[in-house]
Amino acid sequence: MTYEVLARKWRPQGFEDVIGQEHVTQTLVNAIKTGRLAHAYLFSGPRGVGKTSVARILAKAINCEKGEPGKPCNQCQVCEEITSGSSVDVQEIDGASNRGIDEIRELRGNINYMPSSSRYRVYIIDEVHMLTLPAFNALLKTLEEPPPHVKFIFATTEPHKVPVTILSRCQRFDFKRIPLYKIVEHLQNISRQEGIEISKTSLSLIAKEADGGMRDAESLLDQVVSFSGTTVEDKQVTDILGIIDREILFQLSGSIVEGDMKKCLEILDQVYKYGYDMKAFYRSLMQQIRDLLISLIARENDLVEISENDRGRVREQAEKAGRERLQIILNFLMKREENLRFTTDPRLLLEAVILQLCQMGDFLSFGEIIDRVEGLEKMLSGRPVTRPSPDIPRLSDPEAHWQGKETHGSPEDLQPSSGKSEWKRFLSFLSSKNRAMAKVLEEWELKSLSKDSLALKRGNRSFSTAYFDDAEKLDQLRVYCREFFGQDIRISLQGSAKSVSRNKAVDPPKAKKKSVAPQQDFPPPVKDILDVFQGKVITGESPRKPTSD
Ligand SMILES: Nc1ncnc2c1ncn2[C@@H]1O[C@H](COP(=O)(O)OP(=O)(O)O)[C@@H](O)[C@H]1O
Ligand SMILES: [Mg+2]
Ligand SMILES: [Zn+2]
Repeated sequence: MTYEVLARKWRPQGFEDVIGQEHVTQTLVNAIKTGRLAHAYLFSGPRGVGKTSVARILAKAINCEKGEPGKPCNQCQVCEEITSGSSVDVQEIDGASNRGIDEIRELRGNINYMPSSSRYRVYIIDEVHMLTLPAFNALLKTLEEPPPHVKFIFATTEPHKVPVTILSRCQRFDFKRIPLYKIVEHLQNISRQEGIEISKTSLSLIAKEADGGMRDAESLLDQVVSFSGTTVEDKQVTDILGIIDREILFQLSGSIVEGDMKKCLEILDQVYKYGYDMKAFYRSLMQQIRDLLISLIARENDLVEISENDRGRVREQAEKAGRERLQIILNFLMKREENLRFTTDPRLLLEAVILQLCQMGDFLSFGEIIDRVEGLEKMLSGRPVTRPSPDIPRLSDPEAHWQGKETHGSPEDLQPSSGKSEWKRFLSFLSSKNRAMAKVLEEWELKSLSKDSLALKRGNRSFSTAYFDDAEKLDQLRVYCREFFGQDIRISLQGSAKSVSRNKAVDPPKAKKKSVAPQQDFPPPVKDILDVFQGKVITGESPRKPTSD
């Protein structure tokens, strides 16, 4: 017995069997019932979504001898001949291989003959956009004055290549990609009837891969079954389809969120060894982050096309990461996707991008930043700062510092030795939060650590020296300190970097002409402000208007 491929075996034979194109089939059924048929139709849409199937059903429906209107019987001779492709009255022409004027001339020559055994002669021209211009012109003549017993059905995946003169003489239907869940349902139905044992997870993978095309989905199912027999395991499906295992994606997105660089590199290595296409993997990773993000934004909807099994996991990971961080990661990945096209070494690029993502560490949320700014504004206007949320790191208490009350050297200071061990404990805490930052600090030298202040000397490696010149990084460090030590810690950086103070390093050119106050002499709250805004105090202009600097 010859094996009939699923796509052919399961070709829809009635309008009601066509999945996901109700906007087309409904209209056609109504037209048939009310006798308002156009003489030419154009079916456009991606491949494998039902254009040819609907064309044949339509041909049957208007020619069937027995069925009700809009419902071919599929049993009469006319129906059977159309189904088997042997009807003389219903001709399918492949526009791709019959492109020229001669073929169309021949068609025009035959067109005036009456149908031999049915009501209409139907010409189904597939991939009609492939016709040559002279062929189109010849066709146009026919379309201008079609004999009443002739119907044309054109199908194309590229309607924009069809001349407007033709388009304007056709009733056009746009076929849609079929929604994933409908494909899965249909595949489930097919599997049940074909005795194929396969999980919904696997069918979802297949459907996802088919990207809205039912023929592709059915062909993939064919492939899988021919490889693994009628009992299909999930792992086999991912292997055969070369689909990136969801498990790996989960591990990677989790490790990125945790900033675990080592784990990320291990996973990438594994992906590489599996022989996955690294570019495809990059896209899958973007999709994964997108899924996480969407699961936070549209909780109740079905926008995330994943199996029920994974849904809970997606939520959990997404909540851990938080919306803003996911947004930042996704943006970052999207921005760098373009580089992927030009690189000869996608693995290297992937590693670089992912390591950068890990180093982003914890972000201050937008809300937190606003709270900080508000706090600073209040400080500037002399009012005490009230903190809206206890989670938000406090800046140093303004009063105490304006009065010059320094805690350095006070009896409460930690002894250097305990300072050191405290610092060690902090570093190991930090490395669980932000490995990159911890690595940098391991290269820096602890000068002193007291209850509320921390002095560090720069490391002399080129990378680590300038690390905290980035205001954001320094802020992050403050946040970690606060989290660990349970209070605000004033951080001072010493050492031989070119720019001991960030404020000096980022002199805005505009400000250069003005007289600038010596930056070191300000009380800590002002320094904090300068830190946050990367600003400087210019005498006589207080408070300074914010600029892009
Ligand atoms: N909308 C659909 N509903 C059910 N099966 C479909 C649908 N679209 C495509 N198929 C399956 O794919 C096969 C090929 O479809 P076809 O109508 O030739 O697609 P197109 O002409 O759009 O490329 C069909 O035989 C059928 O098995
Ligand atoms: Mg087709
Ligand atoms: Zn019939």
